[in-house]
Amino acid sequence: MDLEAWDRLDRPGREEAVGRRLSDGAPLTGAREHDEPDFTAVTPLGFPRIGEFAHIRRARSDDPDARFFRRGYNYELVDRDDADAAGLLFAAYQADPVRQFVPIQKRLDELDLLNEWVAAIGSAVFAVPPGHGEDGFIGEGLFTS
Ligand code: HEM
Repeated sequence: MDLEAWDRLDRPGREEAVGRRLSDGAPLTGAREHDEPDFTAVTPLGFPRIGEFAHIRRARSDDPDARFFRRGYNYELVDRDDADAAGLLFAAYQADPVRQFVPIQKRLDELDLLNEWVAAIGSAVFAVPPGHGEDGFIGEGLFTS
């Protein structure tokens, strides 16, 4: 993430890019962090209150299948001042990446203002076997039906 450029942006600019307030994480249409964003709300001039380009609008799908569990880890490599030195390790957990993750990734690729400041530099997909009973073993379900 190009934090230098991001930091040059004023607070309203950063909030518009994400669609949430920096102070408490509430959507621009809400009062508290867990309020549902209102994507139909408009400003007095008639523009969408949460822009069409806002990260949370693009990252949220109406399709209940295109949902997944997220866990982000910010990182910053000290003693380096190149553009790759800070960013987000974005982990997403789901049953089917093609059905759940890929459609969201495509929506972000098409239009997400955050793309001005972030660049994807790598990715990996891991298969995570489910848990097992006391007498079972990891991956058991793959060998028994
Ligand atoms: C450097 C890259 C990224 C940054 C800085 C970033 C930042 C954020 C922020 C600040 C939020 C709002 C707070 C929250 O709900 O956690 C958010 C929400 C979200 N982001 Fe990202 N994000 C990044 C990449 C991604 C990627 C790659 C995806 C998926 C392909 C993604 C999917 C989502 C989703 C699904 C939400 C929740 C939207 C909602 O329903 O409110 N983000 N992200």
